[in-house]
Amino acid sequence: MRISRFFVALAMSAAVSAPASAQLDVEDQIETRQSAFTFAAWNMGKIKAQVIDGSVAYNEQQILAAANAIASVANSGLGALFGPGTANDKNDNTRLKPVFFDKPEKAREVAIGFAQAATKLQEVAANGGGKGALAAQFSEVGKSCKACHDEFRAD
Ligand code: HEC
Repeated sequence: MRISRFFVALAMSAAVSAPASAQLDVEDQIETRQSAFTFAAWNMGKIKAQVIDGSVAYNEQQILAAANAIASVANSGLGALFGPGTANDKNDNTRLKPVFFDKPEKAREVAIGFAQAATKLQEVAANGGGKGALAAQFSEVGKSCKACHDEFRAD
């Protein structure tokens, strides 16, 4: 009795949660990815200020929090926000170039590059890598952002 109720509850919760994992519409995909990149950039800025520019006092805790946030964005399955119809030939609210859909291998490559660089930055921060190691890996993450922008983001 208890077990069957458990399975009913499980089935219902699966049904309820299904729409949340369904594909967002075009406008929501664009807005969500722009927010994700803006949020990543905000966190990149915090690390840059502390590790590269020295304009803000070095704080390992804050750097780890920022690195965690960037890695979360990079590993969140962003690809789901790059669906058909979300490039700037079909929509004026985005800077995604249509060539994105003609180069799936390249898109995969730059996305993986971003995820790997961000995960490594998170590791360096978590292991208290120190300013030099953080600066080096921060620069690698920056390159991974640029690799995608150069290829797929309109000016
Ligand atoms: C896989 C490709 C890719 C990667 C990796 C990537 N970006 Fe972007 N970024 C884009 C695209 C495409 C857009 C344009 C999105 C749109 O307008 O729909 C964009 C837009 C942005 C924007 C503007 C957001 C807005 O509100 O319009 C910022 C800021 C940004 N990216 C920063 C970054 C930073 C910082 C990183 C690395 C930490 C990064 N991006 C990594 C592809 C990427």
